[in-house]
Amino acid sequence: MSAKSVRPLIVGIGGTVRSPSSSERVLTVALAAAEAAGARTVMLGGDLLSRLPIYNPNDAEHPPERSALVDAIREADGVIVSTPGYHGSLSGLIKNALDSLEPLRQDARPYLDGRAVGCIVVADGWQACGSALAHLRSIVHALRGWPTPLGATVNSALKPFDEAGALKEPWQVETVAQQVVAFAKMWRPPAA
Ligand SMILES: Cc1cc2nc3c(=O)[nH]c(=O)nc-3n(C[C@H](O)[C@H](O)[C@H](O)COP(=O)(O)O)c2cc1C
Repeated sequence: MSAKSVRPLIVGIGGTVRSPSSSERVLTVALAAAEAAGARTVMLGGDLLSRLPIYNPNDAEHPPERSALVDAIREADGVIVSTPGYHGSLSGLIKNALDSLEPLRQDARPYLDGRAVGCIVVADGWQACGSALAHLRSIVHALRGWPTPLGATVNSALKPFDEAGALKEPWQVETVAQQVVAFAKMWRPPAA
């Protein structure tokens, strides 16, 4: 856990450019559950992610949006990613955000090292829910993060929100968030 605080910092990445975005709404539910479990949270939603330029490894300087993302993840004790299922996988917006973590490669804690990562997918069918979740978990492994034991999928074709906009069955999403916070509280870096 960050030495700066006994409350772990959980950073949420997710959503789409459209409004209202169901994957962003679901991320809000997850971050509220993380706060209820004792965390501080920061949300990087579709608005910020849509202003991230496509990641270019040759960039000599980082645009401010990329620096904001990289700095937030560098400080994070845990991460939650909520993506829509697009053509059976993550959306390009979310993949670009994850590609944009490349500046963390040379850190003492590279990429998502030592962080639990809650993986959430919202899609119009179970097939994309499952395939996108598997793809997201593979990416988290590549970034050296620890996908939580439970991944959450929300099928938007089944009208998962009530008239007030609340997620009718939040248990999966809340459990993912609780697992991220529990891991952050347990994590001790390996002795140097
Ligand atoms: C370009 C595009 C591709 C999509 N591909 C799939 C898909 O392959 N399978 C599926 O179940 N839903 C698919 N969807 C539906 C979205 O996953 C679904 O509407 C999701 O809730 C959108 O997230 P949002 O509400 O945060 O924008 C697609 C939507 C778009 C716009």
